[in-house]
Amino acid sequence: MSEETALDYGFFSFASKAEMLEKSKVFWNPDKTSFWSESGVPLVIDRREDYFIYDVSGKRLIDVHLNGGTYNLGHRNAEVVQAITVAMQHFDIGNHHFPSLARTALAEALVSSAPASLTKVIYGSGGGEAIDIALKTARHATQKRKIVSIVKAYHGHTGLAVATGDDRFSKLFLSDQPEDFPHVPFNDLEAMETALRGRDVAAVIMETIPATYGFPLPEPGYLEAVKALCEKYDALYIADEVQTGLMRTGELWGITKHGIEPDIMVTGKGISGGMYPIAAVLVSERCAGWLNEDGFGHISTFGGAELGCIAALKALEVTSRPETRSMVHYIADFIGRGLREIQSTYPDWFVGIRQNGVILGLEFAHPQGALYVMKRLYENGVWAIFSTLDPRVLQFKPGILLKPEVAEELLDRVEVGIAKARHDVLSDGRGVRR
Ligand SMILES: Cc1ncc(COP(=O)(O)O)c(C=O)c1O
Repeated sequence: MSEETALDYGFFSFASKAEMLEKSKVFWNPDKTSFWSESGVPLVIDRREDYFIYDVSGKRLIDVHLNGGTYNLGHRNAEVVQAITVAMQHFDIGNHHFPSLARTALAEALVSSAPASLTKVIYGSGGGEAIDIALKTARHATQKRKIVSIVKAYHGHTGLAVATGDDRFSKLFLSDQPEDFPHVPFNDLEAMETALRGRDVAAVIMETIPATYGFPLPEPGYLEAVKALCEKYDALYIADEVQTGLMRTGELWGITKHGIEPDIMVTGKGISGGMYPIAAVLVSERCAGWLNEDGFGHISTFGGAELGCIAALKALEVTSRPETRSMVHYIADFIGRGLREIQSTYPDWFVGIRQNGVILGLEFAHPQGALYVMKRLYENGVWAIFSTLDPRVLQFKPGILLKPEVAEELLDRVEVGIAKARHDVLSDGRGVRR
């Protein structure tokens, strides 16, 4: 299909891809629309199935972005689609004020799947809202206001969540609050202890592996020591498992690999099965106080939408199967070995591999190296995104049900893309916008 072909979907139509992109700038988001075209990724996703997405031109891409794990189980996973298709004959979003069949069933399933410290579930419609719920809950439980996060953290863009993250996003909307939201360097226990010593901190919020920072791995014992400091200074530990949960580390919840029983745990993205937005906050009995005191304390019309709960129940069931776990171990090993081989061919350019299960960050020897690689991978049929808060690092997130033959094809394509990006940087350094 050419770029000039008309795009007619019945629900809407455009004269061509170019016309659609023009309208996207006019009516949607001019900067974001231009950014992708200028970065060499003029993608407008059309068909999607399994771990493949197709541009409207027909170009096929293997998806190793997965929107941070939203498509852990592949695009339009047949079992999830089947579950919500059947459910739509009976359910809709539901009424968020009332006890609900689907919300209760999912809450029970989530609690059974999680560390024993977590006993109740509060729903949001997306990860940012769920993080806000987690922070509000921590403040209520401790009657303290301060929240500690790491430098270059990313927990979403809602009111409280955005204040835990990098200035890039909070300052734009005058939402940085350094007094109440101190940030400390990752893997720095002294800085963490200094931040907690005053005993005025409600909670430390920590991704088990910080995704948007390029998946730098916690040093052995770091997260465990942070949890111990939280206990010492009476702060709560919030595990953000939005990207690291749901088997991506080879365990259902990444935090259990560290033997940590968090006070609060947040899940989002993949729990939706990629089909119906939903997010959830799991809390301990100590943190559940407001649910007894004023159950209307957090209200969200779409939070815990019943169709979302049904998608999530199916996603959780598929993800928890023993064969899914074995698949993740197999893919992690296969991809890890393949990438190390590629790395040994280009050690001056492809300088590091961060890996825990199928969570991978690939480091390149240029401040914006991952933008070069992203562009060349796109041309070569792979969609992987740079790390916004450290663009040297490419986020590389293979699906947890990836078939071995696709994994093999992926590695072949990645090798070519990495070699070409190296050449781009060595020859003229052009080709990326920022
Ligand atoms: C670790 C983490 N937490 C929270 C969020 C926010 O989720 P959402 O985009 O659904 O609001 C994200 C989104 O990328 C994330 O990566």
